[in-house]
Amino acid sequence: AMHPLPALSVFWLLPLAFTLEEDSPLNCVPRRAVPFHKDNAHLFSEEGVFNYSTMLLREDLDLLVVGAREAIYALDLNDISKKLASVKWEVTQQQKEDCQNKGKHPEVHFCFFNYIRILHKTEDNRTYVCGTNAFDPECDYMSYKDGQLTLEKKGEDGKGKCPFDPFQRYTSIMFENDLYSATSMNFLGSEPVLMRSSPVTIRTEFKSSWLNEPSFVSMTQMPESEMSAEGDDDKVYLFFSETAVEYDCYNKLVVSRVARVCKGDLGGQRTLQKKWTSFLKARIDCPVLESQLPYIIQDTYRWCDSQQRWKDCLFYAVFTPQSDTSDLSAVCVYRVSDISRVFAEGKYKTPVTVETSFVKWVMYSGEVPVPRPGACIDNEARKAGITETLALPDPTLQFIKLRPLMDQAIQPIGGKPLLVRRGATFTCIVVHQVQAADGEKHRVMFIGTEEGTLLKAVNYDGEMFIIEEVQLFQPSESIKILKCSNVTGQLYAGSDYGAAQVPLATCGRSLSCMDCVLSRDPYCGWDKVAGKCTLLSSSQRELIQSVKEGDASLCPKADPVKPLNRFIWPGGNLKLSCSSPSNLAKTTWERDGTALTPTARLQLLHDGLLILSASDSDTGRYLCQSMEHSNAGQYAATVAEYQVSMDPAGPGDGNRIFPKAQINGPSVAGLQAVIGLLLVSLLALLTWNFYKGYIPLPWNCLKNREQTEEHGDLNSAVTYQDAQRPAAAEKKLLVCGRDNGTNYKNHSPEGAELSVAEESDLPKVNLQSLQLIDNESEI
Ligand SMILES: *[C@@H]1O[C@H](CO)[C@@H](O)[C@H](O)[C@H]1NC(C)=O
Ligand SMILES: *[C@@H]1O[C@H](CO)[C@@H](O)[C@H](O)[C@H]1NC(C)=O
Ligand SMILES: *[C@@H]1O[C@H](CO)[C@@H](O)[C@H](O)[C@H]1NC(C)=O
Repeated sequence: AMHPLPALSVFWLLPLAFTLEEDSPLNCVPRRAVPFHKDNAHLFSEEGVFNYSTMLLREDLDLLVVGAREAIYALDLNDISKKLASVKWEVTQQQKEDCQNKGKHPEVHFCFFNYIRILHKTEDNRTYVCGTNAFDPECDYMSYKDGQLTLEKKGEDGKGKCPFDPFQRYTSIMFENDLYSATSMNFLGSEPVLMRSSPVTIRTEFKSSWLNEPSFVSMTQMPESEMSAEGDDDKVYLFFSETAVEYDCYNKLVVSRVARVCKGDLGGQRTLQKKWTSFLKARIDCPVLESQLPYIIQDTYRWCDSQQRWKDCLFYAVFTPQSDTSDLSAVCVYRVSDISRVFAEGKYKTPVTVETSFVKWVMYSGEVPVPRPGACIDNEARKAGITETLALPDPTLQFIKLRPLMDQAIQPIGGKPLLVRRGATFTCIVVHQVQAADGEKHRVMFIGTEEGTLLKAVNYDGEMFIIEEVQLFQPSESIKILKCSNVTGQLYAGSDYGAAQVPLATCGRSLSCMDCVLSRDPYCGWDKVAGKCTLLSSSQRELIQSVKEGDASLCPKADPVKPLNRFIWPGGNLKLSCSSPSNLAKTTWERDGTALTPTARLQLLHDGLLILSASDSDTGRYLCQSMEHSNAGQYAATVAEYQVSMDPAGPGDGNRIFPKAQINGPSVAGLQAVIGLLLVSLLALLTWNFYKGYIPLPWNCLKNREQTEEHGDLNSAVTYQDAQRPAAAEKKLLVCGRDNGTNYKNHSPEGAELSVAEESDLPKVNLQSLQLIDNESEI
């Protein structure tokens, strides 16, 4: 039998959050949930090709270059479903065999492929490409000419640039034609490295105090030499996570890190020869809930205001928990100047041997050599005659070789996350700034999730607001990469099964002025003349928008909804639909001007009202209203109106759900005949089967069937009641819950209590308490 309420399983669960404390960062329900639809996005994928996880925006060529498994595509930047060119890069039979002989993986199929991992634009307008190449990484140059992608087959060694193992995390950037890469240098993936290729290759020491089982996340450059009074150098920042060396009471505590090197670093003369002399790292915190294991960084986005200096640049970073016991994800934001200050002025940590072999990392409180270890060559060093790192004195180099870790950790702006969301696992983030109708600029975050959705969120003066969550890929297709083009105003996402392109805003999802204004999307406003929610940037007219307040009183009076006629008959059932465009809205029903309270016979569904076993008293004019709260007030909108009348003639073809009342209907005879016929055929079939001995024990089977049939008709209301009673089950569900892809809308306010309480079962490890001895002098 069919579940009576398939519609109960809606896409994202809802409106508990408005009962949570308003400012809570856990108040995180997306206002609109947009289920998967092929029209949500321009999609690209090719049969038999997977892992579309590398992307390069070539706005100069109007291309999106996508790297997948064994293939590279040049797609039309304005519509990525249009493939302009492609080139294959496959491994040879010999390479497959070599790989298998090295015997890395029992699952040899990893050896079969070349996963494209690096795509960068070079200064001569070509593209630098690297692939894992059956555990033998290789790099090449690629050009796009006359509508053709061509690989030059240079066969450059990709060791240290590109991972061997396609599952190992890596990152790289190309900065002034130098490739900076963070990956593993060897076949086993056990030798991590941050490396700059060409002209002189500079890399990290192979020591656990430098990189300890790291998982590389992202890299970016910062033009810190610009107008620098100290004559500072440009820097490259690396974000990663690694096993902490500084917490001794935990076997494997993973922490998030930011490291940086100076662009002009040439390594030392004898000590740290061809190694970074400027590699410094610090812990980077995103304190989601105080008493938890550190959250792990997953992606970052560098956001800079073109009108301001580098010091005002921000890093947006997404974090996920290190244990499976929590399903919170978070965004923390850091000032580049805060990070830079820790490296430039902060204290160092130093290893100290306690007892015989036990090493503890504590704050270094001794004398620090000059020039400052890890600093770039600046005016002061130049004054002392040190114009390049090769001239750095040995004490400085010895110091940094031993102590690349800063004592102080980097804290996010405000000391807490900007956004916390339960139930969706964040994978990547981009940020785009937009000017709202009032002239104010807002930074909008677009966050990809493991569930294949894209969240759009803004922070309005400390209030977190998730405008929408759009299902880009079918569930479980994790978003692996996200890019934003300033030029096209489009977002590009990649997953294992394809690439998708979506505009920064789809204003047309709002059909009414109230919905347009309450969506608080800084890209959209209501055009009174056209009667449409439209993009601010594409409209000449003045639009109604109120992003901070959500003041829908600015809207013209909405056109009344058209009443629909519905018929019921005594004892029949009827469903009246009513879907609010907003997850934050509450829907209420009234009949002939009186509010309806749910009863066993009148059931409130998330998308409508169910009238069971109708009688005369159920006729009348039904209004479905949605009530939405914003900072400016409460707004009610009539979503649907029905005129329900009795149809004494019996069931028409109205909105009835079950044909149960047909017993008295005129068409019953025909139906009975059909059922009779079916029964006869069934019996015949069964008899034949018994005769043939295909069904050994028919009696239990038949008995069960009879019982179900009896119950089925007996009281469908019972079934409904069960369906409408998920309150108990929902208590287990969490605020922005994800329940194997099925989510329930909860109407009971007590659901709100669940938000943080669940966390209390977790192991409580306080970072402070881990740091038993904080200072070297305490030993
Ligand atoms: C590539 O895609 C396939 C197909 O979905 C997936 O099973 C595999 O894990 C992906 N490989 C990598 C390295 O991401
Ligand atoms: C690369 O392209 C830019 C603009 O598209 C152009 O100005 C420049 O000269 C090109 N460089 C080379 C080396 O072709
Ligand atoms: C985006 O475009 C604006 C104006 O077109 C420009 O000022 C800004 O620098 C661009 N940002 C990036 C990251 O390219």
